[in-house]
Amino acid sequence: MLLQGLTAALAASCAAASYIAGGADMMPRDASRSLVARTTPGNVYTCTGTGWTGTCKTQSGKALGACVTLGSPYAKNISSIGPDAGAVCTVFTATGCTASCSDPFPLAIVYPGISNLGAWDNKIASYKCVAA
Ligand SMILES: *[C@@H]1O[C@H](CO)[C@@H](O)[C@H](O)[C@H]1NC(C)=O
Repeated sequence: MLLQGLTAALAASCAAASYIAGGADMMPRDASRSLVARTTPGNVYTCTGTGWTGTCKTQSGKALGACVTLGSPYAKNISSIGPDAGAVCTVFTATGCTASCSDPFPLAIVYPGISNLGAWDNKIASYKCVAA
């Protein structure tokens, strides 16, 4: 337990943000296999499963620059996340968009998003989007 905590503390370097977009073949697509256009900056498509499966919802109605703390069932339960075009969204393991050294690594996400959050899987408690 002590060793785990120590390892987690050492792993969190709080370095510069990484910009990651998921593989194009893993993005939400319509029946014609086109990427689903999402064009309201600030909206964020979230799914509880990887590859845009499970329970999904477009988190909407949030102003750019505002912190969004996720509610049930999405809080610390998202495996895919895709901001609409025109915004870049930073994610946090803590509520209130406070960076923490338990964040796996700094992560800022752009459209079309990430279909498998990997180290961030089931860890996002809050996020904030700004104009890209
Ligand atoms: C995570 O999402 C799944 C699918 O919606 C749901 O069944 C489960 O209760 C959620 N878990 C939490 C802790 O919210």
